[in-house]
Amino acid sequence: MAEDTASKSEKIIVNTKSGKYPVIIGKTLNFGELTRDVKDACKVVIVSDDVVFPLYGDAVMKGFSKSGYRVNACIIRNGETSKTLSTIEKILEFVAKEELTRTDILVALGGGVVGDITGFAAAIYLRGIDFIQIPTTVLAAVDSSVGGKTGVDLNSGKNIVGAFHQPKAVFCDPNFFGSLTEAVYADGMAEVIKHAMIKDRDMMFALDDLSAAEMCKRNIKIKASVVELDEFDTGIRKILNFGHTVGHAVEVLSDYKISHGSAVSIGMTVISRASENLGLTEEPVLTELTEILKKHKLPVQCDYSSKNLADAALRDKKRSGEKITLVIPKKIGSAELYDLPVEKLESFISKGLEK
Ligand code: GLY
Repeated sequence: MAEDTASKSEKIIVNTKSGKYPVIIGKTLNFGELTRDVKDACKVVIVSDDVVFPLYGDAVMKGFSKSGYRVNACIIRNGETSKTLSTIEKILEFVAKEELTRTDILVALGGGVVGDITGFAAAIYLRGIDFIQIPTTVLAAVDSSVGGKTGVDLNSGKNIVGAFHQPKAVFCDPNFFGSLTEAVYADGMAEVIKHAMIKDRDMMFALDDLSAAEMCKRNIKIKASVVELDEFDTGIRKILNFGHTVGHAVEVLSDYKISHGSAVSIGMTVISRASENLGLTEEPVLTELTEILKKHKLPVQCDYSSKNLADAALRDKKRSGEKITLVIPKKIGSAELYDLPVEKLESFISKGLEK
């Protein structure tokens, strides 16, 4: 990855039916001052986890206080296993004790899990209050912090309970990436490679030349353009699920020991191989895709059977009635939606597991 040279921040406006909001991308952002542009002085509860908060919590809290906000923090355990209704209850009780009202605000300081649960708590507390996303991982910065999907997992599947609730603003500061482990960094690269596969061929071959800020900007633009067309995920937004149908099945079957990005990487590989084997692609994509995934330290195979993967995938919310919508790569940089009868999913996946 290239070094960041510019310190100037950039703004992307996300324009959804539920409202317009800025995504500010830049290094060493002043979160308190930026928040003043979207929200007058009020009470702030920062939701963060026990890995991120010890690193950045004090500085972020001080920044909000200096800008005139009354701030407190609610800390949850790091990791996907925190993405539950009981964590939501804990956050809601905390926020209620702090006596937040509809004019106050939640701030998500962390990765995708923190962002998803903070957004969901904000969506349902007092029937909806504002929240701000401060993503600290690549995955949250390039994908989950933008677009308003919030929610939690149930034992029966990922993100089964949730709400669409757009943030009031997203502040994306690549300085946070400096403390990520190689595995957590790689997790985010799976979503970057997903965006490249579905929408941006040039980015697929330029990943090493982009600074972190440029990478965020390019990916957030892709994400925003899709969300603006289909905020509530009834059509074209499903294109962002490339690799996720099988990926979510892998996550659930592994009891979340396989991380989201790794699972999506496996999912993209399985779907691309199946698509090639079934003659659905316009040009070969698998070799290029797997080389780039491996180069970014992402896995491209798993030991689960096509039956186990299909059963887990069909419990996922991506199913609608007797059909499941898959995302098929046509070529690198272009993909399309493909409806498959649910009874054909297992044999489709088996084509993606062939050696
Ligand atoms: N991450 C997929 C979406 O936001 O629709």
